[in-house]
Amino acid sequence: MLVTVFGSLNYDLVTFTKRVPNAGETFAADRFETHIGGKGLNQAVALAKLRSPTSNIKVEMIGSVGKDAFGEEILQCLQENGVCVEKIRTLTEVKTGVATILVEENSGQNRILIAAGANGCTDYVPETLEKLFPSDNLPSLDYVIFQNEIPGTIPTIQWLNAHRPGHKIVYNPSPFKETDKQIWELVDVLVVNEIEALQIVSSVYSVRDAEHMALKASKNAIMGYKSIANALTGDLLTNGDDSGVIITLGELGVVFKTKKDKEASHLEAAKVAKVVDTTGAGDTFLGAVVTQLCSGESMRDAVAFAVKASAIGIQRSGAAESIPLFNEIL
Ligand code: RIB
Ligand code: NA
Repeated sequence: MLVTVFGSLNYDLVTFTKRVPNAGETFAADRFETHIGGKGLNQAVALAKLRSPTSNIKVEMIGSVGKDAFGEEILQCLQENGVCVEKIRTLTEVKTGVATILVEENSGQNRILIAAGANGCTDYVPETLEKLFPSDNLPSLDYVIFQNEIPGTIPTIQWLNAHRPGHKIVYNPSPFKETDKQIWELVDVLVVNEIEALQIVSSVYSVRDAEHMALKASKNAIMGYKSIANALTGDLLTNGDDSGVIITLGELGVVFKTKKDKEASHLEAAKVAKVVDTTGAGDTFLGAVVTQLCSGESMRDAVAFAVKASAIGIQRSGAAESIPLFNEIL
């Protein structure tokens, strides 16, 4: 089975600090690190590291880097982790994408500023997509994973739906952008955090309904997001019984529902001794979920596995490098 990640590759410049400076303020940070990142890359590495050694999952990435030292390091990292890089373009006229990240030491929480660079050129015409996705590999359904850090995500999802209907689409609309309502019908697995879930709700429901759902979520997050998951799988995700939504709630765990489930379910977050760096935690989670779905596990088992994987990742610094191996989970 082939899993393709269509997305961004970044070089992460990470500064750890007690607090972030105010406008006009300068003070010394605690330390500086560089890491390999980008939502697309992190998800590809998560898939490769977290697939069971006995599975037949092949992971490839589609994207662009610049012809520079950052780009070289990124390609090397992917190759070392067993991700196929044949479909990654190295562009001469732009720099590799860079994420400037500030991590607050106490909470492990981050603030991220992205300069897209080569990622901004990952907008493909149909002739190129024909070559990138040669055919439907039925009967084993291939997965394609999308985020919102590159242009061309929506047209590529639409193209796949029209020309390669055997592919399963996993969509992580992060960072969130307003989109045509029809797009949700093409998605098999929607993975969002609590903020993105509310952004989708306010983009597809009437103001009154959206406010009602947001209020419910603010009073009792688990109950509120369960009803959002019920609504989304009822109204938006229409791509068959196995299509579903997963909403990550950080410390409060995860709410999820497939279309065929009567009600949304909730799983607790894993207990963590000390949060070091949450960068890429959502990407680790998503990659982990997809490896398990590919291996035929239920959504509940996939989510349980992914909760453990991301709990390990947030106790280590960095994005891609902090992702655990399959053998560390069991
Ligand atoms: O999701 C985490 C990632 O977002 C970081 O690695 C950074 O590159 C940004 O794209
Ligand atoms: Na981490």
